[in-house]
Amino acid sequence: MAVTNAGNFGLGAIVSYVYQWIQILIAYAFAPKLPAQQVKQRPLGHVAVIGAGITGISTASHLIGHGFEVTIFDQAEEIGGIWSRVNSTSGLQISSIMYRFHPAVKWTQGYPHRDEILKNTQKIWKMYDLDKRTRLGFKVDKVTRHSSSTDPQEGGHARWVINGNEDEVFDGIVVSTGTCGKPKKMDLPGEEKFKGKIVHSSQLDGLDCKGKKVLIVGGGASGIEALELAVQQGADTPTILARSDKWIIPRNTIVNCALALQPLGRETWLSFIPEFLLKKLHYRGLEDKMAPSQGFYTETPIVNTSALRHIRKGEADYQRGDVIDLDEDGIQFNLRKRGQKKGDDGKKIHYNADIIVVATGFEVPSIDFLPQDLFPEQGGFHYVRPNMYLQVFPIEDCSVLCTNATFRNAVGTVGHIHIGIMARTLMLFLMDKSTRPKPRDMRLWVDLIRFIKDRAPGGQLDFFTYMELCIWLVSFLFFRVNRLYYFFFVTFGWGFWSREGKTDKSGRLVGEPKFHLSISKLIGKGPSAQFLKNN
Ligand SMILES: Cc1cc2nc3c(=O)[nH]c(=O)nc-3n(C[C@H](O)[C@H](O)[C@H](O)COP(=O)(O)OP(=O)(O)OC[C@H]3O[C@@H](n4cnc5c(N)ncnc54)[C@H](O)[C@@H]3O)c2cc1C
Ligand SMILES: NC(=O)c1ccc[n+]([C@@H]2O[C@H](COP(=O)([O-])OP(=O)(O)OC[C@H]3O[C@@H](n4cnc5c(N)ncnc54)[C@H](OP(=O)(O)O)[C@@H]3O)[C@@H](O)[C@H]2O)c1
Repeated sequence: MAVTNAGNFGLGAIVSYVYQWIQILIAYAFAPKLPAQQVKQRPLGHVAVIGAGITGISTASHLIGHGFEVTIFDQAEEIGGIWSRVNSTSGLQISSIMYRFHPAVKWTQGYPHRDEILKNTQKIWKMYDLDKRTRLGFKVDKVTRHSSSTDPQEGGHARWVINGNEDEVFDGIVVSTGTCGKPKKMDLPGEEKFKGKIVHSSQLDGLDCKGKKVLIVGGGASGIEALELAVQQGADTPTILARSDKWIIPRNTIVNCALALQPLGRETWLSFIPEFLLKKLHYRGLEDKMAPSQGFYTETPIVNTSALRHIRKGEADYQRGDVIDLDEDGIQFNLRKRGQKKGDDGKKIHYNADIIVVATGFEVPSIDFLPQDLFPEQGGFHYVRPNMYLQVFPIEDCSVLCTNATFRNAVGTVGHIHIGIMARTLMLFLMDKSTRPKPRDMRLWVDLIRFIKDRAPGGQLDFFTYMELCIWLVSFLFFRVNRLYYFFFVTFGWGFWSREGKTDKSGRLVGEPKFHLSISKLIGKGPSAQFLKNN
């Protein structure tokens, strides 16, 4: 979308040009310093980052940028996390302006596809010298405490050992294992009888749907994406078979942001307004066919506009119900009306298929490698994900940060400015003891949210909005005066620690670290400015 010559200077090109400039400004203002730009000093601490997807790589870059050492571990042989394991046609459904997982990311378009997302991930990885600090093909099975740990009840924190290797001790742990692990296996009843092809929604590359009958089992974002692909390839009325309806919101940044601005993160008496508007303006005639009966602020919505258009035009179809059985030609289905629950008796109908796409989602990766005592059960309540401090710190020790690995449902994006904020919050806890919450503070926070969201269906921390997340983060900084001092650091990354005093033989600074509030990075001179220009 680059502007090439004056002849191309239409509205799209102007928008693209402005978008590029906005991204450059964001990078200058907020990108953490590159290793080459930093004062030579002993690292402030060493943090293990588990997972080399967008979250792990972005978090690691923030840590490096502020003077920490990191080691990234990933069980896969390549970086990129889930994006390295999905179709090349998969892409963002929300606008890329909301999916800036790092300040130095530079998108060429509003809705980039897999390869551009992976390219940007690689860029950040190399830019912050993380390639030299990553161990691929390394599965973390066990994280244990080192004998040098101090007691969180007394304002201390544990020091950590990975897979029993006592030679390497970490001051903090970042769990960035994501929420999409292996494709969820679904044993379709009678699948051995089916003569056609059965594939998972993440393995559609190379599939030819032209003229074929395609059935998609599962009505989540992957199901919708598979439907779009099948229509594009000219399949014969591809059909989603969904066992429950999900909210679908338009691909419109203003609408998406407005919905994420709800501050309470649960249904309220005003929720009928977005629900009514979505049905009338977005579903338009498809309300009975596919609009959900449950409230909007209960489950992650799907962001899509074209699928509804295809269904409205009859190019694709959507049916609600349960798969009963497969035979050699397709699926025997229990078709349910709106309002009938899963498993209720409906109309039995047979759908023919050449290809069945299983779009039933992904397994949530286990974080059982963490010590189980980080997640206590008290008074009949389990403080396990998502019931954690600020939803990311286990209530027993604030030196373990689990960004984007704990949530279930949300209106927002998993790859946005909060990755940096969370990383800097962890740095704060490691560097300044007076800012650390003790286990009882963290438990109190979870209990308070449970109380405030008492009437949220599903579970109080099961669902949140981006505005709610911002309120949590800002109130966390205002809660103690000594945290407020770091407001600009935590929120924008402005400020740094340096060691003052003598240098050692190698010229490195030694001594106690001291915090400096600084926005000098805004001037943007030096290698990072050059690198950003060239990339
Ligand atoms: C097709 C698709 C489209 C999506 N689109 C959007 C979107 O538009 N907006 C949005 O917000 N989200 C979207 N998502 C959700 C997506 O999961 C996140 O956006 C994001 O990529 C998650 O990144 P992550 O780094 O947190 O996790 P992941 O990318 O899942 O990375 C986790 C990494 O941890 C590693 N790992 C796990 N366990 C271990 C272990 N024990 N030891 C070592 N390594 C381990 C894994 O190998 C993996 O590399 C989409 C997901 C899919 C599948
Ligand atoms: N471009 C994008 O933005 C994009 C694209 C793909 C994925 N994603 C993200 O990736 C994550 C996973 O999405 P997803 O669509 O793969 O999974 P998902 O959201 O978990 O949806 C899975 C679907 O399969 C159904 N299902 C599960 N098990 C089933 C079974 N045994 N029988 C019948 N139906 C079954 C579910 O029904 P129930 O709801 O009734 O359980 C649901 O409709 C989400 O966070 C999503 O936002 C994003």
